[in-house]
Amino acid sequence: MKPKQVKKIKVIVDGRLYYGVENETIFQLLKRKGFDIPALCHHPDLKVKANCRICVVEVSGCETLKTSCSTKIESGMEIYTSSDRVIKARKINIELLYASHVEKCVNCSYRFECDLLKFARQYRLKINRFSDRKKNRKTYKFGKAVEIDDTQCIDCNNCVEACQLQGISFLKSDNYGINTEIKPVSDKDKTCVYCGQCALHCPVAAAQEQDSAILVDKMLKDKKKIVVAQIAPAVRVALGENFGFKYGVNVEDRIYTALKKLGFDYVFDVNFGADITTMVEAEELVERLSDKKAVWPMMTSCCPAWVNFVEFYHPELINNLTTARSPHIHNAAAIKTYFAKKKEINPKDIVVVSIMPCTAKKQEKEREELKYKGRKLVDEVLTTREFSYLIKDNKIDFNNLSKSEGREYFNSGSGAGAIYGASGGVMESALRSVPYILNKKEKEEKEQEEKEKGKNSKKKNKNGNIVKAENAKLEGSLEFKSVRGMKGIKEAEVKIGKKKLKLAIVSGLKNIESLIPKLSKYHYVEVMACPGGCIGGGGQPIPTTDEIVEKRMKGLYGIDKKREKRRAHLNKEMMECYQSLKNSENKDKLLHTKYKKSKRIVVKTTKDIPPF
Ligand code: SF4
Ligand code: SF4
Ligand code: SF4
Ligand code: FES
Repeated sequence: MKPKQVKKIKVIVDGRLYYGVENETIFQLLKRKGFDIPALCHHPDLKVKANCRICVVEVSGCETLKTSCSTKIESGMEIYTSSDRVIKARKINIELLYASHVEKCVNCSYRFECDLLKFARQYRLKINRFSDRKKNRKTYKFGKAVEIDDTQCIDCNNCVEACQLQGISFLKSDNYGINTEIKPVSDKDKTCVYCGQCALHCPVAAAQEQDSAILVDKMLKDKKKIVVAQIAPAVRVALGENFGFKYGVNVEDRIYTALKKLGFDYVFDVNFGADITTMVEAEELVERLSDKKAVWPMMTSCCPAWVNFVEFYHPELINNLTTARSPHIHNAAAIKTYFAKKKEINPKDIVVVSIMPCTAKKQEKEREELKYKGRKLVDEVLTTREFSYLIKDNKIDFNNLSKSEGREYFNSGSGAGAIYGASGGVMESALRSVPYILNKKEKEEKEQEEKEKGKNSKKKNKNGNIVKAENAKLEGSLEFKSVRGMKGIKEAEVKIGKKKLKLAIVSGLKNIESLIPKLSKYHYVEVMACPGGCIGGGGQPIPTTDEIVEKRMKGLYGIDKKREKRRAHLNKEMMECYQSLKNSENKDKLLHTKYKKSKRIVVKTTKDIPPF
């Protein structure tokens, strides 16, 4: 079939001829051609709302200025992007936005990336010409994770739409005109799951993560504590965006150095913890396969927003969730037990800070059932955005950092650990190790049988019960491409040994609802709350769009390809650590967790929160 011909449309911009395509908006054309047009409410994955009005342009023959994000190009259109009229209107509109947005720039962790501030500087504005009409509005705090600061809200409605796209609809826009206010709905059948998609789509940090950067800065100055950092798989392919790197570029080497420069005593990689999670999860899958009473499908549990969703909206699925803890909790357990013992450090002196693409992890770390001996395993969580802020606030020249200072303990994980940040990655990692575990289990069972028959002594593997991975006959496929990609629901069937497994992979919480009625046909289901997985997480750099997430995804698979060991069980250092955690009398408290039906979250407002 002949490809459909795209109709070209001639337009004149600032006196020069350009070709646009049918249905393109003026804004899309101008962006494509490299024009610098300010925009705040526009997000390529959301509906056009055209309410910030700073993208205005002049169109010949039209009496009023046009918002470029909502006006389609027409043949012969004459557009002016920087006439006096346009500049004057943009200036007034930015100033009016500042009347809605109380300037907290000095203490704002978004100040290095904030477009509103950038535009104010670019247009040389006095940003306090109009009085702050929202200074008495509330801040709504959702758990320890996310907040909506209504004193800063410019009423663009992006957060409301982002939450609807997650299928949650916990936010609403109340009242009209200058009284418009973003607030949580009062419906008791709805709750926030802390996914942070509202914050990821807010152009002015009115919806944002609850700040931990200042607290971590303080911790780093407290020399009595050993403060360690651990970085999640998805952070390394996104952080560079805030420093001018291309989308998806892996900057992990610089990250290690930056963390040491910030004052962290040790730097660990959550990819190592992801390898532990893979082993726990793959072993559970193998156990369920041989248990006639097992609950199916087994569902992943490393996404805390998904776990929150199950506990509130679908408690009937609690027994489907794997008992595996999430990778940064596993890694922290390894640090506070295995590593602390090796280094002869009192675990009470260690403070673990996770650097995550995720806002929900801020709440996850507080869970009672994840504590060990009454104390949190992860003490603080910084999002990728907060980490970027700390680097910039401490004037660390990230682009010119030397590589890899600080990677001293544990390794940076297998390729399987690296892909945890992408939708399908958790499942693919487990599938890479299931054949090994099945093989090992069969071998152990055979040995047991032979032992019972009294003739096992000579045939016993010289490593005891642990069959060396390299000796395993059955490694199975390495890459499972059918589970990869950006689609909200993916389905696949794989053969592992003699077993055929039916799989489903969901990203973007909204998509799970349509799968729930047919869950019984699957063996294994992965759910990540954020579209595309953690690379599109609520704590990632702004902007995050589907197109950008795809590039970050490629970055992760690139890391996997380059790793010498691409299956978790081939990570020998991790296997030693894992075995030691498994042998511990507290193994259930270090490796496994449980879930329970939950109630709607209690939303706190600034009025309920005591001052410092
Ligand atoms: S964190 Fe997620 S669930 Fe909560 S309000 Fe924001 S988008 Fe909605
Ligand atoms: S909180 Fe942010 S995203 Fe939501 S309406 Fe206000 S400015 Fe827009
Ligand atoms: S998908 Fe990842 S970033 Fe998003 S809520 Fe889940 S764990 Fe966090
Ligand atoms: S970006 Fe066009 S009106 Fe906001």
